[in-house]
Amino acid sequence: MGIGRRLGLQLGRNEPCWCGSGKKYKSCHLSFDERIDRIRDQGHVVPSHELLKTREQIEGIKESAKRNIAILDYVASRIGPGISTQEIDDWVVMKTKEFGAVAATLGYEDFPKSVCTSINNQVCHGIPDSEDILEEGDIINVDCSTIYNGYVSDSSRMFLIGEVEPEVKQFVEDVHEAVNVGLREIKPWRFLGDMGSAINAFCRSKGYSVVEEIGGHGCGVEFHEEPWVSYVSKPGEEMLMVPGLCFTVEPMVNMGARHIFEDEDNGWTIYTEDGSLSAQWEVQIVVTDEGYELLTW
Ligand code: MF3
Ligand code: CO
Repeated sequence: MGIGRRLGLQLGRNEPCWCGSGKKYKSCHLSFDERIDRIRDQGHVVPSHELLKTREQIEGIKESAKRNIAILDYVASRIGPGISTQEIDDWVVMKTKEFGAVAATLGYEDFPKSVCTSINNQVCHGIPDSEDILEEGDIINVDCSTIYNGYVSDSSRMFLIGEVEPEVKQFVEDVHEAVNVGLREIKPWRFLGDMGSAINAFCRSKGYSVVEEIGGHGCGVEFHEEPWVSYVSKPGEEMLMVPGLCFTVEPMVNMGARHIFEDEDNGWTIYTEDGSLSAQWEVQIVVTDEGYELLTW
C-alpha cells in the first residue's frame, strides 16, 4: 500500500482538519484517520473522506428527510383500494412541489415518474400508471426520493390495501422487522456485512429469500453514492462503517425464491421470477459515534 494513499497524509498535524471543525488536524481527526488506515491495512474496504458527512451536510439531509417523510405520510393517509398508482405519483408531485423540493427519480437515468410503486410480485422500480388500480388484498411498496436544497433523502414503505391475507400481512411485518434487525448491527468500526448478514439470516429463518442483485446505497449529497449495500453479505466484510457514513437500509425480500427479472418493455420494473410476493421497507441512516441516527421512516 503506497503511503500516499493513506487517508490523512496530505494534511500536516497543525493544519485545519478536513472535517471543517476549524480545529488542528492533530487534535481532531488524526487518530480517527490512523484507525481507518490500520483497518485498511488489514485488507478491508474503508470509506473515503468524501463519503463522510459533515454536521452541516447532515443538517441539510435531515431537512430533506423531513419532507420525504411528510410526502409518504400524505400517501399513507390516502392510499387504498381503487387508487391508481398514477394518483400516487400525482400526490408525490403535488406535495414535493408544495415543500419546495424536487423528486430525485424523475428523469433519473430516464425514469419517467416522481415515485416508484411496486405491487405484489413487483420487487422494485414499478412505474406509476393510471391503468394500475390497487385492489383489496394487494401489497404495494411506495419508494420516494427527495431532493431539498441540494440534499437527498430516500425512503420507502409498504402499504396493505384493504384486508390482506394473514400470511401476507405477517410477511410485510417480518420484512419491516428485518430492517430493525439490520439497524441493530449498525455501529461505528464494524462492517456493512455485519448488518447485511443479519438481515439475510433473519429473512431465511422465516423462510423468505433476499434479492442479491439490487441493494442499498450511500445517499445524501448524491442520490446514489458509494457504498453499494448488500443484504446478503458476510460478517466482517464490505465497507467499514464510521461516523458520518450515510446510507440506506432497504432489503428486497421475496416470499419465494430470490430470483428476479426485469420488464423488457419498460426497462425498469423488477419482478420475482416465480411470481411470489416481494416486500421492501427503506430507511436512510447516518452512522454516529454511538451507533446510528435514523433520518427517514
Ligand atoms: N428509491 C430507489 C432507490 O432506493 C430509486 C431507484 S432509481 C429509480 O434507490 F429511478 F428507479 F427511481
Ligand atoms: Co434507495
